[in-house]
Amino acid sequence: MAKSPKALVAGNWKMNGTRASLKEIRTLASKLNDKKVKCNVMICPPATLLCEAKEVAKGSKVKLGGQDCHAAESGAHTGHISAGMLKNAGASAVIVGHSERRADDGETDKDVAAKAAAAHANKLTAIICVGETLAQYENKETLRVITAQIKGSLPEGATAKNTIIAYEPVWAIGSGLTPTVKEVAKVHTHIRKRLNAALGDEADQVAILYGGSVKPANAQELMSAANVNGALVGGASLKATDFLGIIAAYE
Ligand code: PGA
Repeated sequence: MAKSPKALVAGNWKMNGTRASLKEIRTLASKLNDKKVKCNVMICPPATLLCEAKEVAKGSKVKLGGQDCHAAESGAHTGHISAGMLKNAGASAVIVGHSERRADDGETDKDVAAKAAAAHANKLTAIICVGETLAQYENKETLRVITAQIKGSLPEGATAKNTIIAYEPVWAIGSGLTPTVKEVAKVHTHIRKRLNAALGDEADQVAILYGGSVKPANAQELMSAANVNGALVGGASLKATDFLGIIAAYE
């Protein structure tokens, strides 16, 4: 059996955090210093904090990521941020296709694939998010939706080194609800199969994260599901103590 991909526990701060929040990264970095953890750890702060976060995290186990990038390298796109800018500010990865962007900004799979390709071109790991809505879940359309999103959002040139998938059921995000471990295992194993079809053996080494109401209390159980290689965490990543409680699943 192929070796499992190295797990990643990534925190998505979303539109939260000011310079005062950098103390959470400081705490996280110093606490991790004393621990042996079997996963990579990442914080995706708002882009305004990336440069300073990079300084705070220097020499620690904490990696940094962006929350979104534009598909273009530069140009007249007011308010947007390119993958190259994120790289320059200290990111090693970027989340693309988060359901909040798919919903708020009407991003399609094609848009997401273009953003992921821009990430790759700038040597950033693309964390590509997929997940069904509550209506799709209730209609038992989860696997069909995920198949289409993987097919449409995976850019050419995706490899296990430059791509991570995050399965985030839209109805589980910020709601306190989660699928059962059995359901998570079923979807993640399905994702692995779809990746196999697209990437061949390479797929075995692609990390597949679960996201949606991951907390210290449920992390261990969710992370034990088949083909789960880490977590993408929103609310519980804002405080270092909560986030460390999730990372503890990999101690
Ligand atoms: P949540 O968010 O942990 O607050 O549910 C997860 C996410 O959107 O990545």
